[in-house]
Amino acid sequence: SKGAALVAAVAQRLASRRKQVDETLFPFQMSQEQLHLVKSRMRADLEAGLKNKNPSTIKMLPSFVYHTPDGTERGKYLALDLGGTNFRALLVNFKKGLHQNTRLYHKIYTVPMEIMQGTGEELFDHLAQCVSDFLDYMGMKNAHLPAGFTFSFPCEQTAIDTGTLLTWTKGFKATDCEGHDVVNMLREAIKRRNVTAVVNDTVGTMMSCAYEDPECEVGLIAGTGTNVCYMEDQRDADAQRMCINTEWGGLGDDGSLNDIITPYDAEVDQNSLHPGKQRFEKLTSGMYLGEIVRQVLLDLTRGGLLFRGHVTEALKTPGIFETKYLSQIESDRLALLQVRSILQQLGLDSNCDDSIIVKEVCGAVSRRAAQLVGAGIAAVVDKIRENRGLEHLNITVGVDGALYKLHPHFSRVLHDTAKVLAPLCNVSFLPSEEGSGKGAALITAVAKQKQQM
Ligand code: GLC
Repeated sequence: SKGAALVAAVAQRLASRRKQVDETLFPFQMSQEQLHLVKSRMRADLEAGLKNKNPSTIKMLPSFVYHTPDGTERGKYLALDLGGTNFRALLVNFKKGLHQNTRLYHKIYTVPMEIMQGTGEELFDHLAQCVSDFLDYMGMKNAHLPAGFTFSFPCEQTAIDTGTLLTWTKGFKATDCEGHDVVNMLREAIKRRNVTAVVNDTVGTMMSCAYEDPECEVGLIAGTGTNVCYMEDQRDADAQRMCINTEWGGLGDDGSLNDIITPYDAEVDQNSLHPGKQRFEKLTSGMYLGEIVRQVLLDLTRGGLLFRGHVTEALKTPGIFETKYLSQIESDRLALLQVRSILQQLGLDSNCDDSIIVKEVCGAVSRRAAQLVGAGIAAVVDKIRENRGLEHLNITVGVDGALYKLHPHFSRVLHDTAKVLAPLCNVSFLPSEEGSGKGAALITAVAKQKQQM
């Protein structure tokens, strides 16, 4: 009959749509074998970076932090934090004895895009204005507190209080900063105030978590960007231990990840501020995941598989899928109707089938990201274990970043992957609280003690 033929036709159309969506998402599925490969490439590049092999994709930058905190750190410090989407100023007070007794006040300032991508002078003047506002707000205009600067970009350090910016990453591209000492630039801007330490956010996170848990010797950020630091035991007995900021986001910049990079990833890279750079970061961090999703949705829509084939202005808008929307869309507590309402807010008119597909796309992209970070962590902890000649290693990873903390599945997939790929390590993950700010204050405290000695 006519009715049956219609039903059959609809069913067939659905099946073929299903098949095409599955085919599109297939390249995002990582096999165990691929993840093992990523782990071993990460390991090889960590070693190459340490040996200063040029050009190495992973920079392995010394941080001049020699040990994790011992609990004797005291006093009041200013911490200034630049690196993701905001600038934060914090006042941190470590009180006597009790670890819990850390007082912390902070204020968040947005950094407008024109300033992130304007001149260096404008950028640092803007930071100085925020600092001055913060000190006013705290009623501390005349207190000359030692300051720690969390500056979450690759910096070549020769001491705890110098850091030459090697290259901008993420959403920053201000002129006249690369090749310059950012501590000097900050000192100039804030009228020669006392800047005692410059710290990467990974290092700050590790330090703040180590304050609570002495087994914490790795710091991980999974946020706007992704990066790891860890305590390196130098095999040469005389050399001191030192925390190394890996800048692992650069893995793949020599093409070593080309076998997993999809055309969607390539498109995102090409449209980014720093094409060809930070290829691992572009597969794994908040700044890019939404863009990968958008590229896939664009492709599905052009193929007539989504949004009734209408490529709208909204869908063509870079940056609409911020991490927070991905997190909401993927939340299992959300009914599909709510997913549709989020899409509606973003200017995307969807029906029920569309919302299912969008959720699948988000899931495929974020799952791959978490697995890749898990593979990276497995490489790092296994390296530490082997360096120490241990059969088994217990270790804690201090973590910060919105992707880790707010996404409904990212952390679980990351933990599971690290566990499978590093079976000889027992890895615990400790989310940091106010990690990079508190950590910078801790490092400043230690640097200050040294100066006074
Ligand atoms: C980028 C930066 C790195 C930082 C990370 C997380 O990868 O290059 O320094 O730690 O983002 O913010």
